[in-house]
Amino acid sequence: MNAQGLFISFEGIDGAGKSSHVQALADAFRAQGRAVTITREPGGTPLAEKLRVLALNEAMDPLTEALLMFAARRDHLLQVIEPALARGEAVLCDRFTDATFAYQGGGRGFDWKVLEQLESWVQKTPAQPLREPDLTLLFELHPSIAASRLVGARVPDKFESQPVEFFTRVAAGYALRVKQDPARFARIDADQPREAVWNDVLAALRSRGWLQ
Ligand code: TYD
Repeated sequence: MNAQGLFISFEGIDGAGKSSHVQALADAFRAQGRAVTITREPGGTPLAEKLRVLALNEAMDPLTEALLMFAARRDHLLQVIEPALARGEAVLCDRFTDATFAYQGGGRGFDWKVLEQLESWVQKTPAQPLREPDLTLLFELHPSIAASRLVGARVPDKFESQPVEFFTRVAAGYALRVKQDPARFARIDADQPREAVWNDVLAALRSRGWLQ
């Protein structure tokens, strides 16, 4: 019989350093015999990756941007996430819907209620009335420190090139999501050496009984 699927998302402002922990957590699960799907948003399917290129590089109004994020998410949920969960896998997703609330809602100032409406439509699947992560690891770091980590790291995309005030609003968007559903989140202090951050990730999984 399949183990129950486990859906974990990784969130935080650009520069918080979440992505390196996605691979490390996948390795930890696999070492304990659990199958893992690693994926990301926007993206994760051929169609959603095309939408990602548009959303991250083209100028557009906030509603268009939100609709593209949710269109990509719908395809990704149906094609990748739901099937992997049905197989009993751990699905590790580098960003999910909290990023839309944080970036389009907080960062761009787009209507929170409209995002909630879109969320309820898009995340209704044959398996779940509202598919959400079982756990969201939120990597928290002061926006000015995150910005200094990004300098010179690579060519910035549309979001990464935003001023620090944008990321202050993004962080406030994440904080509001935590307030609305605190039990789903593990807040990780990302202003520590990588090893200490990783230990906090492990502790969050172990305290829920999902890793030994
Ligand atoms: P990111 O996850 O940081 O990937 P990489 O590390 O490869 O750059 O990039 C995704 C960007 O898209 C990030 O700046 C946040 C943004 N984004 C949104 O604005 N809304 C969303 O719903 C999602 C999933 C991401």
